[in-house]
Amino acid sequence: MDLGLSGAAVCVQGGSKGMGRAAARCFAQEGARVALLARERRSLEEAVEDLGALGSPEAFGLSTDLLDDAAIRRAFAEIDERFGHLNTLVNAAGPGASQRAFDQIPDDEWLESFELGAMAAVRCTRAALPLLRKADWARVVNVSAHSTKRQSASLAAYTAAKAAMTSISKNLSLALGPEEILVNTVSPGSFASERFRAAMAKLPEHRGLDPDNLHDCMRWIREDFGHPAHLPRAGDPAEIGPVIAFVGSKRNSYMTGANINVDGGSDFT
Ligand SMILES: NC(=O)c1ccc[n+]([C@@H]2O[C@H](COP(=O)([O-])OP(=O)(O)OC[C@H]3O[C@@H](n4cnc5c(N)ncnc54)[C@H](OP(=O)(O)O)[C@@H]3O)[C@@H](O)[C@H]2O)c1
Repeated sequence: MDLGLSGAAVCVQGGSKGMGRAAARCFAQEGARVALLARERRSLEEAVEDLGALGSPEAFGLSTDLLDDAAIRRAFAEIDERFGHLNTLVNAAGPGASQRAFDQIPDDEWLESFELGAMAAVRCTRAALPLLRKADWARVVNVSAHSTKRQSASLAAYTAAKAAMTSISKNLSLALGPEEILVNTVSPGSFASERFRAAMAKLPEHRGLDPDNLHDCMRWIREDFGHPAHLPRAGDPAEIGPVIAFVGSKRNSYMTGANINVDGGSDFT
């Protein structure tokens, strides 16, 4: 199936690692030009090299703190200069889940969760809109979380921020529908990204959980967050990349305002 991405201009914020990177790799394989936004220069450079090797005719990274509106506006001005328009924006960056009880979460953690979980996507979408409006076709994909559908007592701030993002996504789908800019949410379940595995690596050794083993990853999620799934293992980020790429492609021409689970079957178990 041709996704219609050859030569398309795509920006993946949070695209240097994890699921954002997995999505960027799929866009590159389809021949899209790809801009990545993240902070760490080294991982951006490595990701950009990888995208070129996969077939992207033009890939570049812009070191940008997504908590800084002026930096975001500068980044999209540069994307405008390089691409002249934008077909697809993927908002993939998000906060980590701190695993604290509600009455232990300080205000600054609530605010940080909303800054990266919702406001980063708001700011990027706002800065991207003039570029999206210049394109023949345009899509926005917001990466939320399955925990908005199945609560965990230890994830109140994280989940609230992700629920805000899901709501904003639905609202934008309505607002931008008349312009045929399609806006969708992809809600991952448990995915063994770099950050996920780094958090697992901090667990006491006696628990015997291996961050490189997807079955152990799911055991951690079941035991500590109460999130079982139909499948007995966590996902590999490479398993969600193609879903994000399809949702963000020209080939997706009639799905908007949707919230798609990619979670091993976990929202109503
Ligand atoms: N992993 C899971 O199980 C899971 C489950 C449900 C939902 N999610 C959500 O899915 C998305 C991807 O998660 P992931 O685990 O794949 O993430 P990840 O591996 O931690 O990657 C996060 C990306 O965002 C960038 N980033 C983080 N903070 C940033 C900031 N302030 N400014 C600019 N870039 C920033 C990171 O690069 P730098 O650090 O270099 O900036 C990196 O490219 C997130 O929104 C997450 O909340 C994850």
